[in-house]
Amino acid sequence: MTETEEKVNQARELIESASHVVVLTGAGISSESGVPTFRGQEGLWQNFRPEELATPEAFWKDPKLVWEWYDWRRNAVKDAKPNPGHYALAELENNLENLTLITQNIDGLHQMAGSSNVTEMHGNLWQIRCTKCGDIEQNFEVPLGELPPRCKKCGEIGRPNVVWFGEMIEMSLIDSVLKAIEECQVMLIIGTSGVVEPAASMGLVAKQANKPVIEINLDETPSAGLYDIVIREKSGEILPLLFTSNRTLS
Ligand code: APR
Repeated sequence: MTETEEKVNQARELIESASHVVVLTGAGISSESGVPTFRGQEGLWQNFRPEELATPEAFWKDPKLVWEWYDWRRNAVKDAKPNPGHYALAELENNLENLTLITQNIDGLHQMAGSSNVTEMHGNLWQIRCTKCGDIEQNFEVPLGELPPRCKKCGEIGRPNVVWFGEMIEMSLIDSVLKAIEECQVMLIIGTSGVVEPAASMGLVAKQANKPVIEINLDETPSAGLYDIVIREKSGEILPLLFTSNRTLS
């Protein structure tokens, strides 16, 4: 049996004996769907400067430029389909008493794969939020017509309904995540470099609560040394082995 097979078996036992599992995902789970990550060789931050495109200051300095970038990202993601990793998590949700799925991703692929209870920590690429009245519109137009788009209710400028660098995440969302970590029997951390807070500290919170943590991530991460099982393989290959009837490593 290979080291990975051993780890998969250990992880599977932890998940099968759990009634409540917490899963945190990052861009890595969508990379096999063709969605660019942020910090790998091909990552978005290799070619774009986040402070010029993903901050409130950048937006108000040049809303059209920021929307051109998000319009480009929407176009880059529009044909993306969920991969076996997304579908495995959707199946886990059906088989488990309680699954708390938290994602840093804004691509909507978890929902497209059938996950119904998804906490989108960083918002959603397919939503436009009015900068004045706060109305949130689901919008799948690619390309968008007018940039920046206007609120259909009050006519003011709309912004991407995403969390930018320098913006706070709702405390109620963080509280509910911390509560879920307290209550769960095991936590999975999938496809995230673990460098952006508050997501980056969630594995530490689980360890401080004496919960087993399983990381599935291609590259090394800062907190991996704290975790119980670390699998440096593709999530699209490993996740189906963890909780679906399909149990053979390719
Ligand atoms: N399977 C498993 N892991 C993968 C795969 C894969 N197929 N492909 C890539 N990875 C891993 C990479 O090794 C990397 O460590 O996914 C991780 C992606 O890291 P980032 O690109 O930093 O993405 P993420 O951690 O989600 O970024 C967090 O930063 O820029 C902000 O708001 C943005 O939500 C994002 C946040």
